[in-house]
Amino acid sequence: MTHPIAATEPLRGRTVLVTGGAGFVGSAVARRFAARDVGAHVVVLDNLRRRGSELNVPLLTAAGVEFVHGDVRSPDDLSLGGRAIDLIVECAAEPSVLAGYGGGSRYVVDANLGGLVNCLELARERRARIVFLSTSRVYPVQRVNALSVRETATRYVLDEQPGVPGASSAGIAEDFPLGGVRTLYGATKLAGELLLAEYAAFGVEYVINRFGVIAGPGQMGKVDQGVFALWMSRYVFGGALRYHGWGGEGKQVRDVLHIDDACDLLLAQLGAWSSVAGRTWNAGGGLANSLSLAETTALCEEITGTRVAMSSDLATHPSDVRVFLTDARALSSALGWRPARSPRVVLEDLHRWMTANAEQLAPVFRA
Ligand SMILES: NC(=O)c1ccc[n+]([C@@H]2O[C@H](COP(=O)([O-])OP(=O)(O)OC[C@H]3O[C@@H](n4cnc5c(N)ncnc54)[C@H](O)[C@@H]3O)[C@@H](O)[C@H]2O)c1
Repeated sequence: MTHPIAATEPLRGRTVLVTGGAGFVGSAVARRFAARDVGAHVVVLDNLRRRGSELNVPLLTAAGVEFVHGDVRSPDDLSLGGRAIDLIVECAAEPSVLAGYGGGSRYVVDANLGGLVNCLELARERRARIVFLSTSRVYPVQRVNALSVRETATRYVLDEQPGVPGASSAGIAEDFPLGGVRTLYGATKLAGELLLAEYAAFGVEYVINRFGVIAGPGQMGKVDQGVFALWMSRYVFGGALRYHGWGGEGKQVRDVLHIDDACDLLLAQLGAWSSVAGRTWNAGGGLANSLSLAETTALCEEITGTRVAMSSDLATHPSDVRVFLTDARALSSALGWRPARSPRVVLEDLHRWMTANAEQLAPVFRA
């Protein structure tokens, strides 16, 4: 950094690299940061591995974002001709919790961890700050599923959890114990968090955000990632849905953060860098913005006026968690940040986006 970043306009005139920036989160961040009121010069690097990310490229270009077709696994691709970079937002990943189950682990490890090392080396060399998109999936599956819950007509509800550090009826906080197994995806992210902390010794300033589920327009949801977009897509493009595991009634719960709330959060962090840097934060919708699958079905029916065929599969996948709620109270206290958009708004915005772009999106969601 050549001069201090201003709190009011932290990115004006800065060069920001968004890796994985043609994906759901990265493309929204890139466009938001390139908008006139923020004023960054944004470069996106993406290998377009995720089906549907290619549809974002013309939108990025139209927003004034520079697109580079490249791979975070390649230091050469990341070098970007040696130009100055002020900030890296690391969004490139294989984000599927099922990665490795159907085959090898090479890609998820190479992209999520090897790619991050390359980004960290770049940050070190160009003296760039880095914001890492980690995940609530760093919390071990069995420990999360051992939390006591009660059952209502539509969902599982977390009890108070006396004696369990970092757990309460409000969800999981940053000090929840990390011992245990968490999926390869979660493991690459947790390993990435450790590496970021090590690179601080080399002068790399960072923020780690463990995001819960993020959703909203632009998400090419599929069975293994992007559940709220997948759910709405069946109402718009046809097809059936299935409640997997946990009794087969769709009572499993996630909190959901609207993508615009995620972008607002990143901007707030960048404007208050000294109070958030060098730390790991839980970021998510929280209890107030949570839905079970059964509740999601009811909302989708209400919003679209249609129904889809629903079935049940009683087998619970070993990677699946019954209830995940992000306890983001640390971030709220530090920044005064709170999500502004409800799960209903998330689903309404998904519906609007899918119907407005139906011709383009149908092949992605019907694949
Ligand atoms: N969406 C969520 O709910 C959520 C929650 C927590 C964390 N995250 C994290 O946020 C980040 C973005 O997730 P997303 O939902 O936008 O996923 P996404 O799949 O839509 O975006 C990831 C992008 O990375 C690209 N990519 C994959 N491998 C690459 C490589 N080797 N080189 C360059 N680009 C590559 C893909 O083509 C894709 O465009 C990920 O790190 C993910 O782990 C997402």
